[in-house]
Amino acid sequence: MKKKYIFLLVLAVCFIGLTSCNNEYLYTEPNNPVTTRTDTSESLKDSPFPFGLAVSVNYLKNDECYKEIVKGEVTRISTENAMKMNVISRGRKEYNWIDPDYIVGFAHNNNLKIHGHTLLWYRQTPQWIANFKGEKEDWIEIMKEYIFDVVGRYKGKVSSWDVINEVINDNGEVYEKNGSNENLWMKNIGIEYIDLAFHFAHEADPDALLFYNEYGYEYSQSRRKGVNELVNSLKKRGVPIHGIGLQMHTNINHPISDLRNSIIMLADSTKLQVHISELDVSLNPKHDPALKLTDELLKRQQVHYCEIVKAMNRIPKEQQFGITCWGVIDSSSYMAPNPDWPLLFDNYYQKKPAYQGVIEGFNVGVN
Ligand code: G3I
Repeated sequence: MKKKYIFLLVLAVCFIGLTSCNNEYLYTEPNNPVTTRTDTSESLKDSPFPFGLAVSVNYLKNDECYKEIVKGEVTRISTENAMKMNVISRGRKEYNWIDPDYIVGFAHNNNLKIHGHTLLWYRQTPQWIANFKGEKEDWIEIMKEYIFDVVGRYKGKVSSWDVINEVINDNGEVYEKNGSNENLWMKNIGIEYIDLAFHFAHEADPDALLFYNEYGYEYSQSRRKGVNELVNSLKKRGVPIHGIGLQMHTNINHPISDLRNSIIMLADSTKLQVHISELDVSLNPKHDPALKLTDELLKRQQVHYCEIVKAMNRIPKEQQFGITCWGVIDSSSYMAPNPDWPLLFDNYYQKKPAYQGVIEGFNVGVN
């Protein structure tokens, strides 16, 4: 009889533990206690350069433990989706500010900087833009209106912006059409849209730092060449660009030397601030639906994170804009369904070995 009561008590405690962390996002994982987040002994705020997390409005609104991690761990957040054009723009001069305003309020209340992602991208463009008919001047006008209205609204609140995102193809050229991807700004304005976008953003908020965000610098010589040439041509023309974002959605099979060299080379060839802007380290790059999480995979991920942090530590201090991980807990990652576990915190809000890798990188990375 006594044993039965003890069993029921244990069940009740487990239930409370689960619900206190909003179990909607939890899944079962071996060898991992279900508990609220208790280990606050060290924090990503101890980083020698700014360390950030990309956040989702839905998680911030619905998941207290997720919110606690963001508040306790970092000094800057990036907007994973809330400041994309398809979220904000509903028509010409028609806006939905609910999600971006929520993030700005959250950041203000918790003393966090915001990196706004992203003003222009070939994806996530609203339908009315795709349907828009007009001359080059009309396209410049709608782009200017959008940038002025968004950057202007958050002037002094968003301290840095990705102005353009993913603009070159694998040959290193700024493209109008790349397979099924069509860059409407490039198509309707031409390559000067890039200069104009930076100028408009700078005019709207002269204090905001402006970035070009790109993927794949680490895995292709032609992509590296294309990015370097684009950045250096912008600089030569006096375009107000302050930094370059290296997304770095990478995986445990990617050679560490490539990752390290790409960070150092980018800093050296552009002399701009470097943001590792969307870091995650996939454990399942081949999307094997049956893959199981193992300690060995977690250990390999730890080493990758550590080496990336060390490489950031090696570039000149004034160029270290910092590192941002593309999400908070594994299940909030866009890769989670693959399945995958690419981030620093597990689904029980606990620090993973990857987190320890980051802390190790902070401590041993300086020249
Ligand atoms: O919010 C809607 C929801 O209302 C709807 O019911 C649901 C149905 O599909 O979609 C939800 O929106 C999704 C959104 O993520 C929020 O979860 C979109 O469909 C989905 O396309 C969107 O994916 C995002 C993707 O960019 C496209 O915008 C990912 O979360 C985001 O992590 C990813 O981030 C990109 C960077 O911006 C640029 N670099 C690559 C990176 C990874 O792809």
